[in-house]
Amino acid sequence: MSNRTKLLKELKKNTGSFISGETLSNMLGISRSAVSKHIAVLKESGYIIDSTPKVGYRLSKTTNLMLPDEIREGLKTRVLGQADIIHYPLIDSTNNQAKTLAINGAPEGTLVVAEAQSAGRGRKGRTWFSATDDGICLSLILRPSIPPGEISQITLMTAVAAAEALLEATDIDVTIKWPNDLLINGKKLAGILTEMSMEMDAIDYIIIGLGMNVNTDISVFNGEIQDIATSLYIESSIQHSRVDIIQLFLQQFEKYYLEVQTHGFSSIIKRWKKLSNILGQYVTVDVSGKKIRGFVDDIGEDGVLILKDDEKKIHRILSGDVLL
Ligand code: BTN
Repeated sequence: MSNRTKLLKELKKNTGSFISGETLSNMLGISRSAVSKHIAVLKESGYIIDSTPKVGYRLSKTTNLMLPDEIREGLKTRVLGQADIIHYPLIDSTNNQAKTLAINGAPEGTLVVAEAQSAGRGRKGRTWFSATDDGICLSLILRPSIPPGEISQITLMTAVAAAEALLEATDIDVTIKWPNDLLINGKKLAGILTEMSMEMDAIDYIIIGLGMNVNTDISVFNGEIQDIATSLYIESSIQHSRVDIIQLFLQQFEKYYLEVQTHGFSSIIKRWKKLSNILGQYVTVDVSGKKIRGFVDDIGEDGVLILKDDEKKIHRILSGDVLL
């Protein structure tokens, strides 16, 4: 544990009360000026700490921000989130930032989180709205040794991990709409954007981008967005800890990520089917502007949507948008 993390722990133990610089310096075995430098870094990263000469330092309240030390504290993973966690109050897109880091050699498990994004991206060139700091915007760098063709299963796996993390954190029933939208009562709660870079037919890196509306108030969704989007707060009238959700997501994700690299995706697909709201439903699928209607027969082991149309013809759809 770094000295800064130890210092933060001491401040947290004494939240709301002052602790002197001398006590902190003795406890950690570092100089008073080193304590003051660590305090400055903590303040800079978003912690609210009062400093009073001759009295000491006081953490005024526990932060609600998704700060790296908060995510790391109690995180039960081996790799994910154990390398760098980079936090931004505002960034264009965490996926863009993660991509830059990955190109520059950032290791597997590097996590980028932002309180808000100015140019959040969704699937198929869409915009992901995340202008206010009440949701989760995160991107994870992975370097798996799987064939590039299995990236769509990784996306399904992400949806399963996120849905199960939410179930554990909130007890709210979340369903998955193929391929990777998380819904509550038919409205979109979260989306996943997976991007990949290959070198010589092998995956160089994958970026998993997850966007989730957590404590978003209904007034933030203007116009027709109110009819199609929701948040955990809107559904439960409870403010949820974004850090808890991120930790549960990373833990669940890592468990499945290790499993699929040795045992394949069959158990993930089973879990996906359990959480899905479209199996057996009559749906329309928009495949690059072409509409195909039919009953959802199954999801293939490779993540494809298997649709039986009105003429009983079977369509295996790799990418598209399901309209319920
Ligand atoms: C979708 O439903 O179309 C996918 C939305 C993905 C949004 C997330 S927010 C964090 C990450 N950064 C981005 O720019 N996009 C993803």
